[in-house]
Amino acid sequence: MAKYKIAWLPGDGIGSDVLDASRIVLERLKLDAEYIPGDIGWECWRTGGDAFPQRTIELLKTVDAALFGAITSKPVKVAEAELIPELQGKGLVYRSPIVRMRQLFDLYICQRPCKAYPGNPLNYKEGIDLVVFRENTEDLYAGVEFRPVPTELGALLGNLSKPFAPFKDLPGEEYAISCKVNTRHGSRRILKAAFDFARQNGRKRVTVVHKANVVRATDGLFLETAQEVAREYPDVTWDEANIDAMCMWLLKNPFNYDVLVAPNLYGDIISDLCAQMVGGLGFGCSGNIGDRLAVYEPSHGSAPKYAGMYKVNPIATILSVKMMLDWLGEKDKGVALEKAVAEVIREGKVRTYDMGGTSSTLEMGQAIADRI
Ligand code: NAI
Ligand code: MG
Repeated sequence: MAKYKIAWLPGDGIGSDVLDASRIVLERLKLDAEYIPGDIGWECWRTGGDAFPQRTIELLKTVDAALFGAITSKPVKVAEAELIPELQGKGLVYRSPIVRMRQLFDLYICQRPCKAYPGNPLNYKEGIDLVVFRENTEDLYAGVEFRPVPTELGALLGNLSKPFAPFKDLPGEEYAISCKVNTRHGSRRILKAAFDFARQNGRKRVTVVHKANVVRATDGLFLETAQEVAREYPDVTWDEANIDAMCMWLLKNPFNYDVLVAPNLYGDIISDLCAQMVGGLGFGCSGNIGDRLAVYEPSHGSAPKYAGMYKVNPIATILSVKMMLDWLGEKDKGVALEKAVAEVIREGKVRTYDMGGTSSTLEMGQAIADRI
């Protein structure tokens, strides 16, 4: 029996392309693993009414880790219109399966390293080395949303909140409410993950990203919790910044930052910004990590216009594989893989279209495997 069971979840769009390239690398590393395919994504929604079928949920309960490609998500009404006729009008509501997976399996840490590998023509500046810790289960992603707004909710908020007065008499169809829900527990554990990481890896600073001056209740709680957690790490230097200023400062002085930690939505935003500084979405790797299960994926989406063309860059996914190897305790394999990626980038002979080259997704995977 193999040492590890790994769920293999290509999803849709370019998900299969990038996972196929990663498989070449994993085979070369001879990881002692069994890869078990699971269905997830747009076809599951369209033909079965559920983008994250129960059989895939059951599979994830039995594995050590998962590798996930990408899935397509569309707004609720568009999603309903694309269901097969037999499923139309049954009140099925689309929700992003990756968001559900993070919540269902309590994958509360989203870790996204963004490192500028030397010689990458897409580096914003050489030497950038940032790690984003994004809270992954709550905040505006909690899924507590109302459209239309029920009359009783409007009435209740009208009684409870003065700033709600301008909205309280609106008809329910004329507005919408998405709740940002942040807990002390949820904030604390992502903050601790970031501080632990900084301590264990000798990183120079943790920056807490928020908007507590305006979003006072939820981000106020996040910032207050950060102050408490920071007291437990007197050896780790930290500061805090508003999300808007953070975007500006990151572009201006990326070398002033190191580990960034944020609630879910701001973490999502700075992740793309940081990924772009080290080559774009083709380089943005990530891990969704819980206490028992971790699911690794590129941070990009399904890029439908490139689906099945084997054109996109698999490095984001291959670096996610590196993270998975580290998490499984296969550190040597992780080091070997990262070294191979760095060499192929530095050499510059094999480049996908985003890097200005003509190599295919699989050629990039093969070039990296050949370097191991
Ligand atoms: P996207 O990340 O799929 O693609 C945006 C653009 O980035 C692409 O058109 C392409 O030019 C470039 N790109 C993405 N990955 C690349 C790669 N590996 N190599 C080179 N270039 C790459 O984002 P978009 O277009 O906003 O969303 C497409 C779909 O993906 C949507 O349905 C969205 O909901 C979904 N999505 C899924 C995610 C997930 O599966 N975790 C995350 C983000 C979006
Ligand atoms: Mg995103």
